[in-house]
Amino acid sequence: MSGPAPRPGILDIAPYVGGKAALPGVERVIKLSSNESALGPSPRAVAAYEAAAGELRDYPDGGSDDLRKAIGKRYGLDPERIICGNGSDEIITLLTRAYAGPGDEVLYCEHGFAMYPISARTVGAEPVTAGETNLATDVDKLLAAVTPRTRIVFVANPNNPTGSYVSGDELARLRAGLAEHILLVIDAAYAEFVSKNDYSDGQTLVDASVGAGDNVVMTRTFSKIFALAALRLGWGYCPQPVADVLQRLRNPFNVTRPAQLAGIAALDDVAHLDAAREHNDIWLPWFREAVAETGLTAHPSVGNFVLVRFPEEAGKTAEAANAFLNARGIIPRMVANYGLPDCLRITIGTEAEMRATALALKDFMTETSS
Ligand SMILES: Cc1ncc(COP(=O)(O)O)c(C=O)c1O
Repeated sequence: MSGPAPRPGILDIAPYVGGKAALPGVERVIKLSSNESALGPSPRAVAAYEAAAGELRDYPDGGSDDLRKAIGKRYGLDPERIICGNGSDEIITLLTRAYAGPGDEVLYCEHGFAMYPISARTVGAEPVTAGETNLATDVDKLLAAVTPRTRIVFVANPNNPTGSYVSGDELARLRAGLAEHILLVIDAAYAEFVSKNDYSDGQTLVDASVGAGDNVVMTRTFSKIFALAALRLGWGYCPQPVADVLQRLRNPFNVTRPAQLAGIAALDDVAHLDAAREHNDIWLPWFREAVAETGLTAHPSVGNFVLVRFPEEAGKTAEAANAFLNARGIIPRMVANYGLPDCLRITIGTEAEMRATALALKDFMTETSS
């Protein structure tokens, strides 16, 4: 064999496969495969993006200063400790590049978000999973899986694709059980959808770690409730030493100017955000109920998606359901790559989309397979 060889581990990466967006021969699909908000982006964010089209010549502000200030104002955070990225995927990748390397372990839950193992392998580290209980993060199992080689623990809260969450108290217990040299990353991509009293997006834990290990980071995204996924915009809230490290590692102009301006406008449109949350508060329980009526199980979820479990019976499997839904122009997410081959993850879409999907599932379960 000749030619350049990639570093060890790179060829072990199973490339990330995004949610399908098109079906052959279907002009208007119902895309419920990537958890974008049903209401779409704020019209103010779209207007800001369009206005930016007139100013494409110059480089953007490399530090995303105005955006960091806007995020800081909206969430009551110190902008100096915020880092913006090309999606929160970039923050995950930067953290892994900074704090893990060959011989190290990156720990996360059994059904954790697919970017954690990808970013671990990218730097030559070993992805390690801990078991869950009832498809939810189990702090004791995570702590039991820590070894002297563990460098980072990722917890998505709520988790994708399960939709489950752990309480703020449980997160605090996790952090208390980790040695100070281990970085705890709380991935709160779906935080805005959660309305549970015992939920925490991780912000208070980040602050609690300041000067006491400086070892907790919270990541957030504009891709989900803000529905700006196409722009690729995310951020992290860190203790200052971590923010300083990430600022050194990121690409010089990692966030485009249209994305920065749209993000600022989106943050300002509180009414749109509230409407998106209210929509989810109505249609998530409605859809879970409709799924239950078909005899299928919809796992409890605090995000804007539901994990639906299918029987193993021929003709009624998740794969068969996926094909049935596709035939009606509906695209759910297959989650076999998450170790859940008997499930489909379905995003909460518009009212019409949820009604059409519920009806399709009902027909799927009642029609006799040929
Ligand atoms: C749990 C979780 N974290 C992070 C992301 C990445 O989001 P983005 O890179 O679009 O900000 C996703 C996207 O699906 C997610 O589900």
